[in-house]
Amino acid sequence: MNSKQLLKKIIAAFSCLTMMFCSPACTSGDKPQNDTELLLGFSQIGSESAWRIGNTNDIEKQAQNYGISLMFENANQNRENQIAAIRRFIAYKVDVIAFSPIVEDGWDNVLTEAKDAGIPVILVDRDISTDRTDLTACLIGADFYNEGVMAGEYLIRKADALGLEEVNIVEITGTANSTPMRQRQAGFADAIASDGRMHILESIDGDFIKSRGAECMRTLLEEYGDRIDVVYSHNDEMTFGAINEIEAAGLVPGRDIIIISIDGGQEAIDILSQGKINCVVECTPMLGREVMETAIRLKNGEEVEPVIHPQERIFSDEQDLSNIGPRGY
Ligand code: AHR
Repeated sequence: MNSKQLLKKIIAAFSCLTMMFCSPACTSGDKPQNDTELLLGFSQIGSESAWRIGNTNDIEKQAQNYGISLMFENANQNRENQIAAIRRFIAYKVDVIAFSPIVEDGWDNVLTEAKDAGIPVILVDRDISTDRTDLTACLIGADFYNEGVMAGEYLIRKADALGLEEVNIVEITGTANSTPMRQRQAGFADAIASDGRMHILESIDGDFIKSRGAECMRTLLEEYGDRIDVVYSHNDEMTFGAINEIEAAGLVPGRDIIIISIDGGQEAIDILSQGKINCVVECTPMLGREVMETAIRLKNGEEVEPVIHPQERIFSDEQDLSNIGPRGY
């Protein structure tokens, strides 16, 4: 038995054990039919947010549902760890590699190695920047640009409803050079560009982390004080940190400052219902089913869609919020 077969056996045995001890809630009612034997290497960015943890849980759950052996690696927010993980996947001769690139640049070398080894690569959640078109099979992830547009369009409606003549915005951005940071910033800027009331006072890097969101908000409050009308935050975690700082400064989030967030995890929806957030743009982490279906197609040599975006919506104080179902992340 070679090392790849041994690894598959170990992962399959572990998956069985997990399934045996799993509560009924962990198993899907409509279990998909899959006869393709497949070893999938997946490199996750880290555990920086409820979104990321929800994404990891969904990938693991769907791998089990499809009977796919999963080699999972957590990179703890470090690109070099992701590159090392992809090299391990190549050494183990996995059938398909999937990964969520923490930033867009720096992948050409390792992905050329995967290509030379004949292993197809799926980008999950985030994109890469490269001149090569042959290094990855597809991207499965949100339309981050459209999320930024939805956030900007909401703000225009809100400013109209409140009759605001000047709107001073601070933006707390996600990890520098990551796809969601770049595209959420661009989509929002484009959506408000032709509205003369809108002024972005400052964009500041919060790295998608709650403690950084709080630090950024403290700095912004020191600098601009009560001139701030709007916080546009690129994810829920940073929004929570910012809200704590706004309250500590004696201001009321959602009333004194309009709060716009992205992700739409359970905690954000709860805080939206309390009125401390005004708008949350959904970004779903439930990408596991598409990843498994696509991995199976690639293993079988079939064509796949180059880009797959999930459908996403917006939750805001413009709507009845009483019947939003459990978010699952
Ligand atoms: O790439 C998706 C983003 O990464 C989510 O908005 C954020 O919460 C996560 O950390």
